[in-house]
Amino acid sequence: MSPSSEKPVLIVFGAGGHGRVAADAALLSGAFARVVASDRNAATWGSELLPGVPVLSIEDASALPGPRAVHVAIGHNAIRRGEAARLASIGPLATIVHPSASVAASARVQPGCLITAQCVVAPMAELGVGVIVNHGAVVDHDCRIAAWAHVAPGVRLGGAVQVGEAALVGAGSTVLRNLRVGAGATLGAGAVLLQDLPDGESWAGVPARPLQGVSA
Ligand SMILES: CC(C)(COP(=O)(O)OP(=O)(O)OC[C@H]1O[C@@H](n2cnc3c(N)ncnc32)[C@H](O)[C@@H]1OP(=O)(O)O)[C@@H](O)C(=O)NCCC(=O)NCCS
Repeated sequence: MSPSSEKPVLIVFGAGGHGRVAADAALLSGAFARVVASDRNAATWGSELLPGVPVLSIEDASALPGPRAVHVAIGHNAIRRGEAARLASIGPLATIVHPSASVAASARVQPGCLITAQCVVAPMAELGVGVIVNHGAVVDHDCRIAAWAHVAPGVRLGGAVQVGEAALVGAGSTVLRNLRVGAGATLGAGAVLLQDLPDGESWAGVPARPLQGVSA
């Protein structure tokens, strides 16, 4: 087992509510030597994100002695993707897994993911870079979630569902097995998806249908 001194200091970037969720999971995971937060507007947040998790300026966070790792805790998919690119020089992207989540040994999880409390990531599922699997979501066997997508709280993805890059699968929605949610698409909260959702479109309802005039 690695001594704790070899664990990286984790910089949770994004000092809002989602950052709190990420920092809490990081603390409980025991995977990091220390957890700090940072934000482009650090001065507008309190001095601590959580008890024992200080909010630092980007400059101060960048100067922390290594090894460092970064987790971008911003719910908006495109902003999360952009900030990860901008912060790459500070340290590698870190995945955070809450200890109450169940992640199959055969699941493949890329860097920068957040898997929060009570989630299930089933055998042979794949999560791309920067994916969020939010509270209580189920990503069933053989699902493929592309980079920067967000599977919101309480979602149920059937087996072998594909979710495209930077898509939002809204809270409490259900996607039947083998279907695809397109890249940049949004599935509304509480929807039940019975057919493929095309790239960039927003659908909602039971069964899910296109929302007129709503962009993803
Ligand atoms: C679908 C969604 C993206 C639409 O958001 P929006 O662009 O702001 O749309 P509006 O709120 O203006 O609603 C437009 C229409 O869609 C309807 N609508 C919105 N969300 C809906 C939903 N989830 N299910 C059914 N109908 C919905 C509205 O009632 C409205 O209908 P109307 O034109 O007949 O009045 C959004 O409501 C949603 O469900 N987002 C998911 C949020 C989520 O789960 N985030 C994760 C948090 S961790």
